[in-house]
This record gives sequence, C-alpha cells and structure tokens, in this order.
Amino acid sequence: MAFLSDTLARVKPSPTIAVTNKARELAAAGRDIIGLGAGEPDFDTPQNIKDAAKRAIDAGKTKYTAVDGIPELKAAICAKFLRENGLTYTPAQVTVGTGGKQILYNALMATLNPGDEVIIPAPYWVSYPDMVLLAGGTPVPVVAGIDTQFKLTPAQLEAAITPRTKWFIFNSPSNPTGAGYTRDELKALTDVLMRHPHVWIMSDDMYEHLVFDDFKFCTPAEIEPGLYDRTLTCNGVSKAYAMTGWRIGYAAGPVALIKAMGTIQSQSTSNPSSVAQYAAVEALTGPQDFLAENRTLFQRRRDLVVSMLNKAPGITCPTPEGAFYVYPDISGCIGRATPSGTIITNDEVFAEALLEETGVAVVFGAAFGLSPNFRVSYATSDAVLAEACTRIQKFCAALV
Ligand SMILES: Cc1ncc(COP(=O)(O)O)c(C=O)c1O
Repeated sequence: MAFLSDTLARVKPSPTIAVTNKARELAAAGRDIIGLGAGEPDFDTPQNIKDAAKRAIDAGKTKYTAVDGIPELKAAICAKFLRENGLTYTPAQVTVGTGGKQILYNALMATLNPGDEVIIPAPYWVSYPDMVLLAGGTPVPVVAGIDTQFKLTPAQLEAAITPRTKWFIFNSPSNPTGAGYTRDELKALTDVLMRHPHVWIMSDDMYEHLVFDDFKFCTPAEIEPGLYDRTLTCNGVSKAYAMTGWRIGYAAGPVALIKAMGTIQSQSTSNPSSVAQYAAVEALTGPQDFLAENRTLFQRRRDLVVSMLNKAPGITCPTPEGAFYVYPDISGCIGRATPSGTIITNDEVFAEALLEETGVAVVFGAAFGLSPNFRVSYATSDAVLAEACTRIQKFCAALV
C-alpha cells in the first residue's frame, strides 16, 4: 500500500514559494541576491491595525471564535462590500477564513465533484489549478495572451464553457500579469455568463485596491446583478493592508454555499486566528487614506520597472493596470546563449540562468500557464528595482 495519497500526486508545490526559498538559500550562502519573486508588500502593517491586535490580546480575545468569523468582522465586511462595491450582503452571506487562499479552497472543496470543470484564464495565479485538482475537479486553462493584454475575450469564454463547467475563476487585477478588466470588458464576459445559468463565478478581488492611473476596479456581481445569486465575491486584507502574515481572507455569496464552506472549514482548521480577526476589523473600518498613498508608490515602481525592462534586448513588457506584478514576454531571448554557454530554451532556463549569473530571482512563466515570460513582483524599493532591472538589461544584452 502506498504511503502517500493519489491526491498528493495530482498537485505540485507552489513554484513561487520554491523561488523565494531558493533566493533565501543563496542569500544565506553569501550571494548578492535580489528577490523579485514574493507576492507581498514590502512595508509593515499600519500601526492602527497592530494596535487593535494588541488590544484584542490584552482584552483576552484569545479563545476559539465562531468558525467562519466573529460578528464584528462580518459586519465590517458587509459594510465594505456596500461602501466600495455597491453590493448588499447580510452577515449570513459572509465567511471568513485563514487567508484568501483558504476561502477559495473551501469553495472548491465544497462544490467540486469528479469531472466538474473550472475555467481558469491563463496566465493564472499558481494555486488555482492545483486547488481544483486537490478538490477533485478538472482545471480548464484558457490562454489570454499578450495580444489581448492578457485578458480573456468573450468568445474565448463562450468556447470554453461545457455542460460540465461548474466555476469560472475571475481575477482582476491579476496575479501574475497585473491586467485589470474595464467595466466594458467585464460586462462583455458577464453577458456570456448570463447565457449559461449553470456556471458559477468565483471572483478573486484580492488586488482591488492596487489599481493605477484612472483605472476603476469592478467586480462581476456589481457589473451584472443578474449574476448575484451564483457569484462568490472573494477578497482579503493580505495585499491591500500589508497583512500577508495575519492570514485573513473573506467572501460573500449565496447562503447555502457560504454554509457549505463553513462546514469544510469547521472540520479542517476551524476559526481563523481570533487576534487577526480583530486586526482585520480595524483594517476595514479604520482610516483608509494610506491605500491611496500605496497606489501612488506602486504606480511609480510599475512605471520604473516597465520602462527599464522594455530597454532590455529581447524583452517586451506591457503596462498593467494594477497589482504589483509585471509579466514581460521574452520571445526575443529564446534560442540565444549566455556568455557561459547556457542556451535559453525556455523561460525556466531563463529564470535559472538569470538567478545564477546575476542574482536576480524571478518566477518563470510556465508556472503561471503562459510562456515564454517571467513574473516580476515590484513590491520593493525603487533603488532595488533599478539595480535588478539594470542587471536584467545587462544579462539580456550579453545573450548571443
Ligand atoms: C490572486 C491571489 N488570490 C489569492 C491570494 C491569497 O491571498 P492570502 O495571502 O490572503 O491567502 C493571492 C496571494 O498571493 C493571490 O495572488
């Protein structure tokens, strides 16, 4: 009898975490490493949020809570959805989990049966296909390439839907491309979904607050109220409030689905950390002005990285609408060789050689379902970004 499960054989460890670990190891061994792999803001959680957590500890809010979230947090989430997205939800329609990741996982575990298909626009966040596989479903990636600014077209969505489609996962702004759908672009997709009443929509709005220029964030249930009864609107405090380590994510949707997700959570992890939940109440109800400051900061970094990468021979880097990632195309580098003789046959080799020869750690595109590309997380200082991009420029210029 095999010790490891068949389920485990279906999934692979997160490649983004692998790159981050490799970069850490090299740095610990004394190499001059610049890590552009990790998907988290480089600044600390705001003080008012940390203070709220300290108050919660001192007040003894350190016991088990309701499995899917304390009433105060559910109320704050309902208020957030109304204020920022024009969506009305009651606390019974809201669930809180240990990060956005657990929320998505709970939903897939609660709904997928063998053979159920989940449409995932590619490039995608690395965890979507593996979570679908863990839950016993079939991921259906649909590539949205650089020609459509990494956005799925209505015709592509229509063509991917079958009688077995259970979910369509929508992520805007996107990890790994930063692409954000305009209202018109999203409406064109929701029009398709209106014609297929058996398809549910999982909207992952994790990067809602990280949008640039005059881009306006929008989410499916807001754009098409006709989809409200089959949409799970997912979000979290990790990225917007620099709270990746606190592990709080949430979602709102139909009560039956929310209850089912709570059942999965009750038999796996139970409630998310009580202290982190009180911190999240403060994040959602406290001062929000730093969100705009962060947008300005990240926009400046985006502009720096896009302009410098576009000066690297063989690289084309589109300008994304949001998040803190860019996803440059490296077609012009494929087939060429580094001065030490490594032939760049694909983006994984590119990323390995880049790390080995320049110390810059990026994640290769194949991990996200579209090659040849790589992902840069620009959640680090201007000076570090400028140095990393200079090294990338030199690396590309030296290819023969
Ligand atoms: C698109 C997307 N969704 C969800 C998550 C998960 O966020 P959390 O850290 O809250 O689990 C991430 C984190 O990288 C992400 O990029």
